[in-house]
Amino acid sequence: MDAVMPNFSDVLGPNVEVKTFPDGDSYVRILEPEMFKGKETTIYSRLWPEQNSRIFELVLLARTLRKMDAKIEGAVVPYLPYSRQDKIFLEGEALSIDILLNLFAESGIKKITTFDCHFIKSGRGEYEREGVRIKNISLANMLVEKAKKEFSKNLTTISPDEGAGYMAEKAMKKIRGEYIEGKEAYRRIERVEGVGEVEGKDILIIDDMISTGGTMVRAVENVKKAGARKVGVATVHAFFLKDSLDRIERMADYIIAANTIPNKHAKINFMEAL
Ligand code: R5P
Repeated sequence: MDAVMPNFSDVLGPNVEVKTFPDGDSYVRILEPEMFKGKETTIYSRLWPEQNSRIFELVLLARTLRKMDAKIEGAVVPYLPYSRQDKIFLEGEALSIDILLNLFAESGIKKITTFDCHFIKSGRGEYEREGVRIKNISLANMLVEKAKKEFSKNLTTISPDEGAGYMAEKAMKKIRGEYIEGKEAYRRIERVEGVGEVEGKDILIIDDMISTGGTMVRAVENVKKAGARKVGVATVHAFFLKDSLDRIERMADYIIAANTIPNKHAKINFMEAL
């Protein structure tokens, strides 16, 4: 059986209702609960945007399924929030990803399938963390193959930092600065360096995610400055926060993304890689 959240409706038919009470509390209801009794069940849920509400709704669903004697096989969560807080960078910080995975495990979700998980930094594979088996699938090859058809047959692929190096032939190096002042937890990108030999070439810069766009904008600038003929941009998780979409559209000759987060440049369907 599949238990499908409404925010999966572009790829699967939902059978769970989610609403919000006037004060902001979440409401979750399984539409045909009797169907799940004793059945192996996979949950399908996007966890972004509004990740904290989405996470809690997933917990409500899993625990309700368990009450109905469903056997939770796992959950497909195309983008895993908090995957960038996989380490303690400053003393006293919450190790958010471990707390989240622990919450999943405690709620009966012992396996998740996700795509280009930030802290795994590799292609397809299974990993164990905090009692959860994480099946990670990389969409890098699908993005590159499609870009070769649509953008340029003779592409050289480069990632803007070493973390996404597994997605490309070569990796640049990203130097981060200090946290910015104020309430937003964001570290400036000082520079991206090590662009290599790109003169006269068609380049596809590929990263696991474009969030504020700081990384990608710097990377495109560098590759252009170094004399690339054409520069395309590829990403799996396309948040395109702030004005990043505008900036990247102005700079890049081509943009491709997956639909783990719905966006206007989504040309790769993660469901085809499951
Ligand atoms: C970080 O290491 C990731 O791979 C991305 O490069 C990063 O999260 C993108 O963030 P932003 O778009 O805000 O620079």
